[in-house]
Amino acid sequence: MAQRTFSIIKPDAVRKGYTGAILAEIEKAGFQIVSLKRASISKKQAEGFYYVHAERPFFNDLCTFMSSGPLVLMVLEKDNAITDLRKLMGATNPANAEEGTIRKKFAGSIQENAIHGSDAEDTAAFEIGYWFAGYELV
Ligand code: CMP
Repeated sequence: MAQRTFSIIKPDAVRKGYTGAILAEIEKAGFQIVSLKRASISKKQAEGFYYVHAERPFFNDLCTFMSSGPLVLMVLEKDNAITDLRKLMGATNPANAEEGTIRKKFAGSIQENAIHGSDAEDTAAFEIGYWFAGYELV
């Protein structure tokens, strides 16, 4: 059954001009783009989004990075969207990412890793609702 997930093309990838190439990989893999917007977010907005990581040592740097420049927020749909996007993205650390994955091709480091994707149904619901209003998802 079609499932929705949430994804971000992160500021490093947007800065390097990889937005179009990453969107092409996503569409080639069979995802429908339900909604998409470019935005520049505040550090406070990044902190709210990543609240589950608030106690991690990398939290402050991560939120500074995510608010360092424009990014692209997306809602994607396909069968098994959550698992399939995570496979397409590759490992969090691009040094461990498999050949052919988005992070292997486009990510520079464990923090500046090009793309985010929800890791479960409940986080996808929170993340979609955090960035998109209902009227943007019809
Ligand atoms: P993301 O999938 O967006 O989820 C949390 C983010 O925190 C992750 O991608 C990385 O950008 C970042 N991250 C995770 N682990 C580390 C780490 N060990 N050091 C720095 N950043 C990390």
